[in-house]
Amino acid sequence: MPPIGIDAVALAVPTGYLELTDLAKARGVPSTKYHEGLLVTRMAVAQPYEDPVVLAANAARRLLITSGRRPADIGLCVVGTETAVDHAKPISAYLHGLLNLPERCRVFESKHACFGGTAGLLAAVDWIASGANRGRVALVVCTDIARYAMNTPGEPTQGAGAVAMIVSANPRLLAIDVGLGGSYARDVHDFWRPLNRKEALCDGHYSITCYLAALTSAYGAWKEACGEAGVNVELARTCYHVPYGKMARKAHLHRLALDGITGAEAEASFTREVASSLDLPSLAGNIYTGSLYMALASLLHLEGHEIEGRRIGLFSYGSGCTAEFFSGRVVAGAGAFARSLQLAAPLDGRRRYTMDEYEALRRHEDQADFAPLGSIEAPADAMAFLGVDGERRVYARLAPIEESTMPNGHLGNVININKLQAAKLRLL
Ligand code: HMG
Repeated sequence: MPPIGIDAVALAVPTGYLELTDLAKARGVPSTKYHEGLLVTRMAVAQPYEDPVVLAANAARRLLITSGRRPADIGLCVVGTETAVDHAKPISAYLHGLLNLPERCRVFESKHACFGGTAGLLAAVDWIASGANRGRVALVVCTDIARYAMNTPGEPTQGAGAVAMIVSANPRLLAIDVGLGGSYARDVHDFWRPLNRKEALCDGHYSITCYLAALTSAYGAWKEACGEAGVNVELARTCYHVPYGKMARKAHLHRLALDGITGAEAEASFTREVASSLDLPSLAGNIYTGSLYMALASLLHLEGHEIEGRRIGLFSYGSGCTAEFFSGRVVAGAGAFARSLQLAAPLDGRRRYTMDEYEALRRHEDQADFAPLGSIEAPADAMAFLGVDGERRVYARLAPIEESTMPNGHLGNVININKLQAAKLRLL
């Protein structure tokens, strides 16, 4: 069987963010609590027109353009999300339409809190391993808007964004160790998002305990599987699910302690093996399903070249809860290819919101779910959610992929509502 894994990655984030020093000041908290206590710097904040479908579509469009893959290559499209826009119609169905994917395509949405994207990735790997792909590749997109109520401990750990991945045979970035993943599940109430509200509820400190218990068990199961298969468990780097950077640090020290490594050696290992994966996540915040894969993108962006040929670990955690520890080998040439994907570009050129703007956005974030949006401004070459009209969600489909140049952050011309209205008319 040829190697199977992650062939290419692209990110999308909203056009604006909140600097967490501003949030700390407004909430009367020392900014060191956020910067050093939680290891977070900025959190991405979505405008009403930047819903999870739009974030997914922007990441996937960027991925198709940067990776050189065509919509016609895709035979499976899975969207992992815990920010669904409908009980029945999945985000993957909107994505299928917005990207002009082929009719002969298996399309579905996958949910288990932050684990939904990993469930999609592993389903894609199995689809290829089974031979059902017949030469085609899978598109897996993780998309979410992380929301907690204002003035709660979870508020500085919000974020928003999407990560799109091509999963294929003979991947150009990461060959996954197929069949060696260590799984874990337990019914807990650590974090949940009831159907009648957009904001998550959580038992914050308990959720940390649940995450670490899941890591203990899933890591043990992965090591056992590797032992049975005669696979070396030495890991050059490990990427963790990153609700906030400090959680990944706690996780790494916890994992090392399970192997009897503590103190200065463990601290040095964190700096060497995990820190670079937290760079991009610290600028976007928790993006739920995509957080682990933004960490992977950060690692490949900063260190892809150095770790070619080496095995890395990945830990995915979804509250509620389930988890998987799995691994893969960074492919030869991955460093140069990751550089060509310009993974960090979407995080450049964003607008810094004031606290007043952030709070106004939070107060009005539901409006687009019931009526057409009023005046909005969106960057050129991006998708936009135009609100709900006649009980249907309406999206602006901009230039087809064939006519697009590579999206470069958010610096395109601003298109105004009149052009979006025209796009809307074309869609309807
Ligand atoms: P909190 O209770 O306000 O914070 O919220 P704290 O008092 O625990 O302080 C946090 C850290 O800052 C501590 O360090 C303090 O010592 C330190 P630690 O003991 O953890 O090493 N600190 C300071 N450091 C420097 N200068 C200071 C200062 N003050 C304090 N002045 C909490 C923290 C994580 C509970 C909150 O943000 C929260 O509820 N977040 C949401 C839940 C969450 O992210 N859980 C993570 C695990 S569950 C998960 O990852 C799944 C999830 O992504 C959802 C999904 O699966 O769908 C959330």
